[in-house]
Amino acid sequence: MDKERVIVIDFGGQYNQLVARRVRECNVYCEIYSYKTDLNKIREMNPKGIILTGGPSSCYEKGAAACSPELFTLGIPILGLCYGAQLMSYVLGGRVARAAVREYGRTEVDVDRTSRLFIDVAPHTVCWMSHFDYIEQMAPGFRAIASTKNCPVAAAEDEGRKLYAIQFHPEVLHTEEGSKMLYHFVRDICGCRGDWKMDSFVEESIRTIREKVGQGKVLCALSGGVDSSVAAVLLSRAVGEQLTCVFVDHGLLRKDEGNQVEAVFGNQGNYELNFIRVNAQERFYEKLAGVTDPEKKRKIIGEEFIRVFEEEAKKIGVVDFLVQGTIYPDVVESGLGGESAVIKSHHNVGGLPDYVDFREILEPLRNLFKDEVRKVGLELGIPEELVFRQPFPGPGLGVRVVGEVTAEKVRIVQDADAIYREEIGKAGLDQSLNQYFAALTNMRSVGVMGDERTYDYAVALRAVQTVDFMTAEAAEIPWEVLKTVTGRIINEVGHVNRVLYDITSKPPGTIEFE
Ligand code: XMP
Repeated sequence: MDKERVIVIDFGGQYNQLVARRVRECNVYCEIYSYKTDLNKIREMNPKGIILTGGPSSCYEKGAAACSPELFTLGIPILGLCYGAQLMSYVLGGRVARAAVREYGRTEVDVDRTSRLFIDVAPHTVCWMSHFDYIEQMAPGFRAIASTKNCPVAAAEDEGRKLYAIQFHPEVLHTEEGSKMLYHFVRDICGCRGDWKMDSFVEESIRTIREKVGQGKVLCALSGGVDSSVAAVLLSRAVGEQLTCVFVDHGLLRKDEGNQVEAVFGNQGNYELNFIRVNAQERFYEKLAGVTDPEKKRKIIGEEFIRVFEEEAKKIGVVDFLVQGTIYPDVVESGLGGESAVIKSHHNVGGLPDYVDFREILEPLRNLFKDEVRKVGLELGIPEELVFRQPFPGPGLGVRVVGEVTAEKVRIVQDADAIYREEIGKAGLDQSLNQYFAALTNMRSVGVMGDERTYDYAVALRAVQTVDFMTAEAAEIPWEVLKTVTGRIINEVGHVNRVLYDITSKPPGTIEFE
């Protein structure tokens, strides 16, 4: 690839993806690599700049995540953030030690505007700090360019070698002028042109897909979600009639969703593609019978998906490529990109079985963040209501029915969710919530209805506000709306006698229940 890029070297910090996103917001392509990545590989990639992320270790301790001193001699501009800043100082001969006072949260910082990083930043600005260790003594050649009350070296630079160390987190929105700092690094210091834009992405993807696919047949796994819809439309633009989209109704979709997907992409819809709907509900329920472990459920659903596609592929004849709507956070969260632990195996990445009956997998959105996928969708002319649809997990209601999945439990959660969504819409809240849904807990409890004792399920309602789905806050839904939804669910959905509202943020919770 000849395109210019900045790479993020991940030391296990929680904001690694955020750093990459902020760089891309400067129209510069950015990828995340583990700190264990071989130096030669980094050299071959020939990045315009390197950013070292934060991380949980202390760089002076034995076994801490480290990097080769040679990294700093490549002549590539490097920006170290938090742990990355400490590590840079330590490796280059400075001293890092445990601070007397831990700095955490919004902190006032004084910056030196003669540094190119801070050229138009206010002399007093607010930054986000989160550290125990600090740079006690800078490495030779460095000068301090920012400080806080407790941290004499909140940032340092060696302009000659283009090495920069920032103790705080410019990638976090709480650092009020953080975006400017990152912009100065990637655009001014690294000299990136900033030509990573979505219209060029679309053109380039169409060209590379055509080259790769040739006369081959392509099979696309369409779920109706944003990612697979954008992938399908991109593919249909690239290879037209060579594309067949298979939509598997796995019986774990929201109420009526199967018909809605068919209306958009089917023969009566707007797109030129071969559309096949497979009604595989029973198959999935059978496979899931008796299974309660969330990771197992995900794996089963993922594998069954692939099996269904294989069967369809056989029916249509030889299929060369299988398309998946994998996006970059799936890749990173599955532990493939940077250093982050496997949080959940996303079914379209981690759960892929070893044996796949296609020549190759095509993942045209693999390098994109969600907001970039949406921009591509709009660029392709996909209707806004589809592009801005709230996310829905690949394993569907399989991860919203806690414990064993059965047809009846799915029916309960579908009906409850439909009521919830209808009332949220009526209250005009749908635009302000990033994701909201009903889940079925595995709890049954005693209630009373009329004069009868009941022993039925509890439905949990969830609504979150989030920018990137990596962290989220529970939304404050008006009490009146919750009461209306609760009343309707209890009255209209059989076998539910209790409705709970989940106020857990992420972390420590996740957005989905499994
Ligand atoms: P969690 O539950 O991890 O979810 O906080 C974060 C976001 O990801 C969605 N999600 C998934 N999407 N396949 C997907 O395509 C999956 O296996 C999966 N699991 C969670 C979830 O809906 C939320 O938006």
